[in-house]
Amino acid sequence: MTNSSDAPTRTVTVAGTGAIGTAVARTLLKAGLTVTVWNRTSSRTSALVDDGATAVDSVGDAVLASELTLLTVTDYSALDDVFAELDAVPGGLGGRTVVALCTGSAADADRTAARAESSGALYLDAGVQTAPEDIGTPAATILYGGSRHAFDRHLSVLELLSTARHVGENPAAAAVWDLTLFGVWYDAQLGLLRALTAAREAGLDVAGFAETAAIQLGHVVAAAADTAGEVLDGEYPRGPADLREHRMVVDELVAQRAGSALGDGGLTDVSRLLDLEIGAGRGDLGLTAVTLPSGRQRDQP
Ligand SMILES: NC(=O)c1ccc[n+]([C@@H]2O[C@H](COP(=O)([O-])OP(=O)(O)OC[C@H]3O[C@@H](n4cnc5c(N)ncnc54)[C@H](OP(=O)(O)O)[C@@H]3O)[C@@H](O)[C@H]2O)c1
Repeated sequence: MTNSSDAPTRTVTVAGTGAIGTAVARTLLKAGLTVTVWNRTSSRTSALVDDGATAVDSVGDAVLASELTLLTVTDYSALDDVFAELDAVPGGLGGRTVVALCTGSAADADRTAARAESSGALYLDAGVQTAPEDIGTPAATILYGGSRHAFDRHLSVLELLSTARHVGENPAAAAVWDLTLFGVWYDAQLGLLRALTAAREAGLDVAGFAETAAIQLGHVVAAAADTAGEVLDGEYPRGPADLREHRMVVDELVAQRAGSALGDGGLTDVSRLLDLEIGAGRGDLGLTAVTLPSGRQRDQP
C-alpha cells in the first residue's frame, strides 16, 4: 500500500504491547491517531483498547490495518516468529512500512530488513535510546536506519515518540549506532569507576575526587566535535600533549592499574600503539593518531 498523497500518516499499528509498545501506542492515541494493536498474549492489549485502540487477533491483520507498523517485541528472535506469520499474508504487505524497535546486532537488522522487503514492505530498523516512561517526551531519542523515503514519509508520527534521527540508508546503521553509543557509556563509566576505586584505595577524598573527575570528563565532551574532525581529516595536532608525553602517563597508569579487578581499560594496547607511532618518527602528533586506519602501514611516516 503506497500512499501517493503527502497527507500525514494517521493510521498506525503497534505490534507487541510490552513496556515500549504500550508507551508508544498510548502516545499515538493521545495525539489523536487511529491505532491498531496486536500482542501475542491478547489480554495485554485490553488497557489500550480502553484508551481507544482497536485490537486484532493476528499480526497479519494488524499490519494490513495501517500504512505504518511499529514492531515492539523482545528481540529479533521474537521478530523472526512475527515474520513467519507475516510471510503467510496473502498478497504480501503491499508497500506498507514496518519499523522494528528492538535492541540487536547489525546482522539481526540486515536479516530482518531482507525479510520485510521480500514481503513487499519498506523497512526501518530503530535503536531505542530511551526508557518507556520517556517515550513521547523531549528526553527521548530513537535512531532509525533504512529507507529514507519511509522515514520522511512517516516523520510526523515518529516525531511524536521522540527526537527521530535517521542515521543511514543501511538498515544496520541504527543497530551499530545504538550499540556503539552503549560502548561510549561503558568506557566512560568504567573509567570513572576505575578512578574512584584507585582514589578509595589510596585513602583520598573520593567525593572531592569525583568533582574533579567530572571536570575531566567534561573536557572529552567539549572536544568531541573537534576530535571527530581530526579522525575524519586524518590530521592529528599535538593538542595538550604529544605522543611521547602521553606514553609516559599511560605507562604510569598501566603500572597503577596492575592487578586491578577492572583491568587497565586497554591501556597496555594503547601503550604498544604509542610505541609504534613514536618508533616510526611520529612522536610529535596528538593522541588521535592512535586511530590511524588499520590499513595504513604504521612503520611508514
Ligand atoms: N524497556 C526498556 O527500558 C527498553 C529501552 C530501550 C530499548 N528497549 C528494547 O525495546 C524492545 C521491547 O522491549 P520492552 O521493554 O517493551 O519488552 P517487554 O516489556 O518485555 O515486552 C516484550 C513484548 O514482546 C512480545 N514477544 C516476546 N516474544 C515474542 C514472540 N516470540 N512472538 C511475538 N511476540 C513476542 C511480548 O509478548 P507477550 O506479552 O505475549 O509476552 C511483549 O509484547 C526490546 O528489544 C528492548 O531491548 C527496551
